[in-house]
Amino acid sequence: MVKVKMFSSVQPSQEPAMEMPPLDARAFYDVVDSRRSTRVYARDCVADEAIDRVVDAAQKAPNSSNLQCWEIYRVASTDKKKKLVEACLGQPAASTAPELFVFVARPDLWRRNNTWTLKEFDRRGNMPERAYQYFNKITRIAYTQGVFAWVKRVWLPLRGLLKATPREPIGWADMRVWAHKSTALSAAHFMLAMRAEGYDTCPMEGMDSKRVKKILELPSRAEVCMVISAGKRTAKGIYGSRFRFERDTFYHVR
Ligand SMILES: Cc1cc2nc3c(=O)[nH]c(=O)nc-3n(C[C@H](O)[C@H](O)[C@H](O)COP(=O)(O)O)c2cc1C
Repeated sequence: MVKVKMFSSVQPSQEPAMEMPPLDARAFYDVVDSRRSTRVYARDCVADEAIDRVVDAAQKAPNSSNLQCWEIYRVASTDKKKKLVEACLGQPAASTAPELFVFVARPDLWRRNNTWTLKEFDRRGNMPERAYQYFNKITRIAYTQGVFAWVKRVWLPLRGLLKATPREPIGWADMRVWAHKSTALSAAHFMLAMRAEGYDTCPMEGMDSKRVKKILELPSRAEVCMVISAGKRTAKGIYGSRFRFERDTFYHVR
């Protein structure tokens, strides 16, 4: 049996909190408040330099094990764009948009990215042994599927009877969820960054993911997370004022 020590027990630090540069929280909440899903766009283009910065922000999203199993495709070709609008069921949020991006979860790339991570550690030359251990041992146990998934199906619940044990991902369905979580966080960064740059967005899962994959020539195990349109809203492009259910149905303290 493989012996896995996930984390050594660490108590809250007695050290003072680290000094950080002050931030403009109000500016952030203004971005959050003014982001609305936009269904009708004006003709204005999205500046390439803004797209560059927004893509950087999306890539800085937190993601599982920092394995970055995600991709963004900017669909620039007129032909592909037309096909993508069709695959998005002709929704106005797609058909009126000057820019369309596809967020793709790539659970199939974890092994490649694990190798890239270890190469980056070697390049840095100053990574602690526990970082190597994490990517040499823990990630391989956590993300290897196939026959090993069956070993985990038996082993993890048994181990879980004795101590806290990560229960997922076991099997390919879990790996899909695993990659979608991180990709969706990247999409959220992207939409907020677009708003900060003065642009609007609409995330779309109302689409034919099989057709989208074909348009982008993606392998079968790539997963379309969502399509995001971008541009500048028109007054009619926002469908009503925003509403959310009561806060106490969402936020709980136990
Ligand atoms: C995963 C996901 C899928 C969505 N799919 C669509 C869609 O296909 N078409 C659409 O018009 N809006 C879509 N939306 C936008 C939601 O309808 C919208 O976020 C929600 O109504 C809240 O409005 P707000 O974004 O303006 O706050 C989607 C949002 C998310 C997060």
